[in-house]
Amino acid sequence: MRVTVIGSGYVGLVTGACLADVGNDVLCLDVDPAKIALLEAGGICIYEPGLDEIIKRNVEAGRLRFTTDVRRAVEFGTLQLIAVGTPADEDGSADLQYVLGAARNVGKYMNDYKVVVDKSTVPVGTAAKVNAVILAELERRGLEIEFSVVSNPEFLKEGGAIDDFMRPDRIVIGSDDQNAIHIMRTLYAPFQRKHDRLLIMDTRSAELTKYAANAMLATRISFMNELALLSEKLGTDIELIRQGIGSDLRIGWHFLYPGCGYGGSCFPKDIQALLRTAAGVGEELKVLAAVDQANERQKSVLVDKVVARFGEDLTGRRFALWGLSFKPDTDDMREAPSRVIIAALLRLGACVVAYDPAAIDESRRIFGGGDDRLSYADYPMVALDGADALIIVTEWKEFRSPDFQTIKAKLKTPIIFDGRNIFDLHDDGLKGIEYFGIGRVSG
Ligand code: UGA
Repeated sequence: MRVTVIGSGYVGLVTGACLADVGNDVLCLDVDPAKIALLEAGGICIYEPGLDEIIKRNVEAGRLRFTTDVRRAVEFGTLQLIAVGTPADEDGSADLQYVLGAARNVGKYMNDYKVVVDKSTVPVGTAAKVNAVILAELERRGLEIEFSVVSNPEFLKEGGAIDDFMRPDRIVIGSDDQNAIHIMRTLYAPFQRKHDRLLIMDTRSAELTKYAANAMLATRISFMNELALLSEKLGTDIELIRQGIGSDLRIGWHFLYPGCGYGGSCFPKDIQALLRTAAGVGEELKVLAAVDQANERQKSVLVDKVVARFGEDLTGRRFALWGLSFKPDTDDMREAPSRVIIAALLRLGACVVAYDPAAIDESRRIFGGGDDRLSYADYPMVALDGADALIIVTEWKEFRSPDFQTIKAKLKTPIIFDGRNIFDLHDDGLKGIEYFGIGRVSG
């Protein structure tokens, strides 16, 4: 099939590359000429394991192309996949200007039947708006061309996006147009596994499904984080409690890991947007508001522990910080707890030496070079030289089994603040180290 992907950001690129990989002809559009030039030259501007190889082999096979030419892009695909950003507006609601701009372009240039697919995370009612915008453009052109707008939200996780796309748990299709549903079925046929993964529903329910999934996942995390605070006070171990409840099939194992808060481009933004949507129809989502508040508080728990141990004035103190990205296997620092933690430590007078396998450049971009109390190390152990303590913020695999002897030798005082509970409390290596986890008291 001929597929146009409008927006070559994270979702657009993964979608375009994976659809090309199963044999479709894909043309990815973006307004940013530098991005398109880079992609055409075989480069890629985001960090996602496996994506560069898929792009490379499909570009070489001639199935994946890139353009900044809007007319060409719209004329190309029977399917027009809208995968542009929906940043937060000033009040937290989703800003639809890019989605509706894409719709306008489709209406402006289309000359034959199109299935227009919303892949961006968009509030309930957006498919209807996209429909209206395209209709208005066609009317302006004095044309009557058939088209159908489908809601097909994306459930990709950064760091695992290729696998999520290739082996989806479910594919949500919001449409009541049988022809469009048939085309979407054909598009996704290569990704169906043993049983049907397609869930067909109305567009509004499909739109809400996306927010509901993220809200539920965030709720589980905030619940566990709050329980972790209680656990510390009671002298219990949240990791044992996690195992105790996760083994209940009704609860399950996923997204029960307490930590120093969730971040990323989705959970925080989507929760705000859903709260705004609810407020717009006179509903107050009390649980969800609390999920967000609990997470804001959670981002500071490591700093609270540092202050409890070293006092309010951290002048002259130096901290090694492992992990800048909001989670492993990405260089993304949007809403990352590390940002809150670093800012707080600097504010309290401390120096921070940070290490991350992928996000140092991003951190430099965010924090700038203005404060020489924030510096970076090329290797995790180098960050420890002369530091008062090690603070672990992201659970990259390479942090999980460090040489504890080296840690002890390099730190001024052997203290670890572990924001992701990556060590076993009974690990012999931790002997002689003051260890502060989340929701568990060592010793
Ligand atoms: C999330 C969802 O998991 C995807 O299904 C969804 O498609 C995506 O948002 C989106 O809306 O685009 P992502 O933000 O990439 O994906 O990352 P997650 O793996 O979900 O992690 C989010 C945050 O939760 C991270 O900061 C992570 O450290 C934290 N987390 C996750 C926990 O603190 N505990 C857990 O048990 C799991």
